[in-house]
Amino acid sequence: MKKKIIIDTDPGIDDAMAILFAHFAADIELVGLTTVFGNVSVEQATINACYLSDLMGGNIPVAAGSDHPLNRKNDRYPDWVHGKNGLGDITLNTPQTKALETDAVDFIIEQVLQNPGEITLVPIGPLTNIARALEKAPEIASKVKGVVLMGGAATVNGNVNPAAEANMLSDPLAADRIFTADWPVTMVGLDVTHQIIMDEMYLKRVHQSGTNIGNFITKISQFYLEFHRSTGTDGLYTHDPSTIAYLIKPDIFTIESGTIRVCTEGITAGLTIMNRSRKPYQQTAWDGIPKSDVCIDVDVDAFLDLYASIMTGH
Ligand code: BDR
Ligand code: CA
Repeated sequence: MKKKIIIDTDPGIDDAMAILFAHFAADIELVGLTTVFGNVSVEQATINACYLSDLMGGNIPVAAGSDHPLNRKNDRYPDWVHGKNGLGDITLNTPQTKALETDAVDFIIEQVLQNPGEITLVPIGPLTNIARALEKAPEIASKVKGVVLMGGAATVNGNVNPAAEANMLSDPLAADRIFTADWPVTMVGLDVTHQIIMDEMYLKRVHQSGTNIGNFITKISQFYLEFHRSTGTDGLYTHDPSTIAYLIKPDIFTIESGTIRVCTEGITAGLTIMNRSRKPYQQTAWDGIPKSDVCIDVDVDAFLDLYASIMTGH
């Protein structure tokens, strides 16, 4: 049976790559895309998701979601990473796909309740929509198959600052609610995504098919490559597609289980702290919550082979 997933996304160049990777994966059924502010405004994220739905044949529903974090206004979009339009500033036609009337939070709740035990939520942006869905309908916690998210850093530094990874920093309160809720969470964070680097040669080889999707990824990845070059990395970090690889082939990742809290304020806001201690503490805020599965290592060659074989069809 195919794995049903909803991707909650702020596309985003690597978001687009993750979505198209999921589209080609034979054992994944993409039930819908829900959008959130993050790399761009939620309005732009929704346009981009509709554009991606068009690229996939127009059958993937898109539901628009949150335009700011749970407890504050949003003040920045990282246009130096993904471009002003989130997709490397390539020219985009107006999409044929239109967003649903239903918003992202209600779409998530409806789908989870209609398919008990079947849907995996795959957030690859700030966790605001997921936290709002959980608050509005707490019963979804026992009805999802799981949550596989891209974000955080358990054993390495952040990427926005030494403490925080971008998706966590964009809404730390929402992130903390996801890690402390009673549902199975898998964190695919910088511990592994900073190990997986796609260089220009690899990207060209994989996407040279001459198809719309191959050409599209080649075009949008140029901006992302330039950004990475400006930081001294020869190739792009494969953040969001790593969630999809985990769903297809979890055994290429090394997992450590532990309870996680997210720092919600101050200079370490967005810091994900996993309790890795083998010794008990007298008292901690990490007690009494479920353990998350955290990807702390990855077989990079196996990952690159998997992505290439799914995107090229052989
Ligand atoms: C995450 O932040 C965004 O820039 C990417 O799309 C990814 O989801 C990486 O820290
Ligand atoms: Ca993203």
